[in-house]
Amino acid sequence: MAEREKWDSKLGFILACVGAAIGLGNIWMFPWRLGAYGGAAFLVPYLLFVFTLGWTGLMEEFAFGRDQQTGAISAYENVFNKKGLKYGAKLGIIPVLGVTGVFTFYSIVVGWILKYFSLSITNSFARIDNIPAYFGNFAGNYQSIFWHGLAILLTLLIVRLGVKDGIEKMNKIMMPGLFILLIILLFRSLTLPGAEEGLAFLLVPDWSKLREPITWVMALGQSFFTVSLGGAAMLVYGSYLDKDSDIPTSAFQTVLFNTFSSLLAAFVIIPAVFAFGLDPQAGPPLLFITIPQVFRQMPAGTIFSTLFFLSIVFAGLSSAINLMEVPVEALIDRLNISRKKSSLIVGLGAFLVGIPLDLNMELFGAFADTVTIYLVPLGAVLSAVIFFWIYGIKNARNAINEGAKRPLAKIWEPYAKYIFSSVAILVLVLGVMFGGIG
Ligand code: PFF
Repeated sequence: MAEREKWDSKLGFILACVGAAIGLGNIWMFPWRLGAYGGAAFLVPYLLFVFTLGWTGLMEEFAFGRDQQTGAISAYENVFNKKGLKYGAKLGIIPVLGVTGVFTFYSIVVGWILKYFSLSITNSFARIDNIPAYFGNFAGNYQSIFWHGLAILLTLLIVRLGVKDGIEKMNKIMMPGLFILLIILLFRSLTLPGAEEGLAFLLVPDWSKLREPITWVMALGQSFFTVSLGGAAMLVYGSYLDKDSDIPTSAFQTVLFNTFSSLLAAFVIIPAVFAFGLDPQAGPPLLFITIPQVFRQMPAGTIFSTLFFLSIVFAGLSSAINLMEVPVEALIDRLNISRKKSSLIVGLGAFLVGIPLDLNMELFGAFADTVTIYLVPLGAVLSAVIFFWIYGIKNARNAINEGAKRPLAKIWEPYAKYIFSSVAILVLVLGVMFGGIG
């Protein structure tokens, strides 16, 4: 058996996790939610949840992976076997399928982003009369298959190089790049005439929103999704960690940078949208319809739109790499297939399964909903229950504390075992009730 791959440096691991966490959740969900659910008031539940629950969930996935030195399927199986229980591996397939499902639709969106990046460099938005109609014709059409294939190819080329030489190296370039680009764009956006209205949308707290349960529900869903809690994605990155790495600190830094990027994205996007009299929205219309209209009207829009879509390429690709690594690792570990072959199989498989979604936006929506409402939250519940309850809360705390400069105190045990696990179940139930909160 070949030795398990390892991260080259602590910084490399954190940047890879930050890259995994920062994605569409930060860019097309957070800015709109911040404005719609009370502006600065939304930060109260959001920061509260992400720095307690999000942090705990991350520590759990990192430690579960590091402790077992393997991905979700074998990790669940090992714990079950030790307790004389059956079907651990079968349960482990659920989060792996969930994350592979996210990869399948995510890579389509990364393809759209690549297309829009190419439209930006070639200064093409100026030539498109009707941007909403343009997007309507592109998404859901055979043209997007090419860009989808390109997104998968780029991800595959990085993942096949392995943990250190592919995933870690690329994130070391893309993550600093992402933050630098966002900061440049922040200056542009905030100095636009009329940006104040957008700032007011984001900042003026509407405290009355905190009396509406939906605000808390959305903040909760956001805090799980944004740090990728699904029982497999962060777990696999944790499985390449050494015993001497500090899990509480790494998880905390991941939450911190992830939150910082969400705020940056909000302050780049919303003021610019308001400055040009457009409506902020959530989801695909924001990135692919509203934003291009902003750049079209902005002086030197071509340059800023190129920088903007490049930053979104970094955010999307670094998440896609993490998502693809989950089934690739599962094939390497379970079926003894080489990394190169596994990446090819996963890439081709996700591409073929994705083609019908390329062609039909309703199907795309139904697929994305099924995966994010049922499979991902169920994966988060499974990993929490298996780690905290079956593996045992004492073992879990020891696994997290190994290598930690400031180990978690005993009081953390009842909190993780009872509160965190129940909230994970609540996230699943609320997501089903509200038709998606992550
Ligand atoms: N954190 C990612 C984002 O914000 O776009 C989404 C995500 C990835 C969620 C992986 C869940 C997951 F397992």
